[in-house]
Amino acid sequence: MLRNFLSIFLLISLTSADDSQFFRILIREFDNPAGTHFSGQSCSDFGFVGLGCNTWLEAGVIAQVNDVAVTTLNQQINSRYETSVTGLNLIVEDENAASYSFFEGFTLQIRLASQNTFADNVLIDSFTININTTDQTGIYSYTSQRNGTLPTTLSIAWSTNIPPFVPSTTSASESTTESFTGSTTAFTGSTTTYIPTTTPILPKDCSEIPNLSISGAQTIYPDGVTAVQVFCDVKSYGILTVIQSRDSSGSSTDFNQTYDSYTQQFGNPSAASNYWFGLENMNVLTNQKKYTLLIDVCCGNTLSSRQIYHGFKIGSNSTKYKLSATADLPGIGLDYSSSRKDIGSEFSTYDTYSLDKSSCDEFGYASDDDVTVQPYGGWWFGSCGNNLNGALISNTNETCSISSFAGELGVNLRTTTGTNSDGWDVDLISYNRVRMAIFTFDSLLIEKSDDSFCKN
Ligand SMILES: *[C@@H]1O[C@H](CO)[C@@H](O)[C@H](O)[C@H]1NC(C)=O
Ligand SMILES: *[C@@H]1O[C@H](CO)[C@@H](O)[C@H](O)[C@H]1NC(C)=O
Ligand SMILES: *[C@@H]1O[C@H](CO)[C@@H](O)[C@H](O)[C@H]1NC(C)=O
Ligand SMILES: *[C@@H]1O[C@H](CO)[C@@H](O)[C@H](O)[C@H]1NC(C)=O
Ligand SMILES: *[C@@H]1O[C@H](CO)[C@@H](O)[C@H](O)[C@H]1NC(C)=O
Ligand SMILES: *[C@@H]1O[C@H](CO)[C@@H](O)[C@H](O)[C@H]1NC(C)=O
Repeated sequence: MLRNFLSIFLLISLTSADDSQFFRILIREFDNPAGTHFSGQSCSDFGFVGLGCNTWLEAGVIAQVNDVAVTTLNQQINSRYETSVTGLNLIVEDENAASYSFFEGFTLQIRLASQNTFADNVLIDSFTININTTDQTGIYSYTSQRNGTLPTTLSIAWSTNIPPFVPSTTSASESTTESFTGSTTAFTGSTTTYIPTTTPILPKDCSEIPNLSISGAQTIYPDGVTAVQVFCDVKSYGILTVIQSRDSSGSSTDFNQTYDSYTQQFGNPSAASNYWFGLENMNVLTNQKKYTLLIDVCCGNTLSSRQIYHGFKIGSNSTKYKLSATADLPGIGLDYSSSRKDIGSEFSTYDTYSLDKSSCDEFGYASDDDVTVQPYGGWWFGSCGNNLNGALISNTNETCSISSFAGELGVNLRTTTGTNSDGWDVDLISYNRVRMAIFTFDSLLIEKSDDSFCKN
């Protein structure tokens, strides 16, 4: 008996000693509020009273940005037709983690179905999540884009002690094939010693302002020294720092400015106004903390789209303020793809755009009347399907659709994938109120249907 116990103990300790390097994903929560399959069919005969799906989950992960071939998890996650499965806390890991010399990202594949065949007719949703990061830990939530039904949401976190990828700075004299130079010791955080100080720490963003309880314009210090006025939106689910906003009924601020002007802040911060935080501030702030970007666009008083981008970061002046982020919903908004996407693109204005203007709708769109569009404002013109800094057109139309003869494309954001029905990357809809806001809290807390920004 004792011997058995000892050998089991030995086995366990050997297994965990062997497991020196790990990559693990925690699957925290899955929500399917509509209680439907991918096809739109209810899972239960009682869908009409709000019953959801009994759900099987299968998952595989690889600690590389690569294809996932393995499924290491396959199990039922609820059995009482719940629409939300919280406290799930399932762990899926890459069994080959020990063999990696560095960590630069991962690919996670999750499929959810109402039966464990995972066949098309019982499929609820599937997620393929590619994260390109060198962060040791992270927490994300993802919303699916399903046709005709309410979306599902998945919340995950990851943890690893694989050393981050370190780009090689040595010259060609080095003969190693891999540029990884870090050690294999576990990440233990910063070694900086804290020296207590009586100097108040100035808030870098709205979430750092002590006891902030009502929305309004506030002073923040993105670089720790320089004061910048910004609108702080205090919501029940967290505090948003608004970095861009447009409103056709607000006081006019010219957004058709030069590249140099866009590097600095302009306009006035308020609940709905015309405001730009400035590229320099965006660069300084987004490289200090990990931010999620929220984009809201309104037509009239209606929230037309609410989009979330994880790991939002703006590069420095030397990268022309390149935009990095991972879209929650792939293929739309900043992740909409023509020959390029806005994600990964440089910031440019009419005068600094270096690619062919005739193949970029935001510059080269020509209507049937041969009225070429008037370019406007600065943006990360990649797909040329978006421009939240475009000319504001007051909304005279229920749909915010604009005439193709107008010669002005307005304030655009792609909310669907693929070109529009005429083959354009822009969809000829000009929103009359939009904003970009950043935050550091768990994006799962964001209320997807909160349309208060569009009202008043
Ligand atoms: C991850 O991002 C870095 C920096 O943008 C890039 O150099 C690298 O190729 C990316 N890795 C993958 C696997 O996509
Ligand atoms: C949604 O519908 C569109 C148009 O019918 C189709 O092209 C697209 O593939 C559908 N997407 C999904 C996820 O079913
Ligand atoms: C903020 O709230 C805390 C806790 O409620 C309180 O102790 C502190 O005095 C408040 N600070 C300010 C500046 O009001
Ligand atoms: C950005 O870089 C350019 C070229 O080096 C320089 O002229 C400009 O002053 C810089 N702008 C800022 C805001 O640093
Ligand atoms: C915006 O500025 C550019 C460059 O000066 C100019 O060509 C364009 O006509 C302006 N757009 C509008 C709508 O006035
Ligand atoms: C309103 O929308 C329709 C299409 O639904 C379009 O033909 C018309 O030009 C729009 N009106 C304005 C003022 O842009």
